[in-house]
Amino acid sequence: MAVYTIDDSRKVTTLRLIEMKRQGKKIAMLTAYDYTMARIFDAAGLDVILVGDSASNVMAGNYTTLPISMDEMIYHARSVVRATNRALVICDMPFGSYQVNATEGVANAIRIMKETGCDAIKLEGGEEIIDTVKAILAAGIPVCGHLGLTPQSINKFGTYTVRAREQAEADKLLRDAHLLEEAGCFAIVLEKIPAKLCAKVCGEISIPIIGIGAGPADGQVLVAQDMLGMTRGFTPKFLRQYADLYSVMTDAIGSYITDVKSCDFPNESETY
Ligand code: KIV
Repeated sequence: MAVYTIDDSRKVTTLRLIEMKRQGKKIAMLTAYDYTMARIFDAAGLDVILVGDSASNVMAGNYTTLPISMDEMIYHARSVVRATNRALVICDMPFGSYQVNATEGVANAIRIMKETGCDAIKLEGGEEIIDTVKAILAAGIPVCGHLGLTPQSINKFGTYTVRAREQAEADKLLRDAHLLEEAGCFAIVLEKIPAKLCAKVCGEISIPIIGIGAGPADGQVLVAQDMLGMTRGFTPKFLRQYADLYSVMTDAIGSYITDVKSCDFPNESETY
């Protein structure tokens, strides 16, 4: 059984993540959307918990991340924050909550911080949303960027395939990463881009780069339900599956059904 030993039990801060990059220490991040999972992740020593808008797919069964609302993200983030002592908690700003203008973006970012108690927010995009990023930072809210495959723009892309293989898109991504760093973001998630481009960004940018399907970076993030093997039929190349909880849970539930139907459960010791 692999048990990770935490070398620093203090609450993880955005500043600590930047120090970790300077010291060459890798950052481990996973998504969580509820109290029970977040409690386990925090106790296991995870550095960062992302309350991702992938909750739209994973928790609500939507096909994309677009339908999830501010109220739903706040519900998920609040539950995660209640469970967390050490990990830094980042909450995704949902689609539509920051794209209209900076004023709306700041108001929604403030609402997320106030109503959830999370430590930071994440939003998708570079140059197009840089004024909003700056305005949110000016309100004192730490911002994590997200470039590469940005699922809130899936209807524009039309595909979940690897991004920035073309030089022009790679150049834009690098420019966007510099813009986000200069604006004052504390980290950037890079999703599904070539490893060579990710290595270039990691080398040029002083804030932590957290990869998902981007090869080696300053840290990694995965959707928890995918890496725990709870989801079926999603097997992208970048996904390492650490458990087969789908089978574990199916077996456990099968045993329960058998025990109930055979009157084996509850037995005398399980009865008042
Ligand atoms: O919402 C999410 O899960 C994310 C990760 C894929 C980085 O943004």
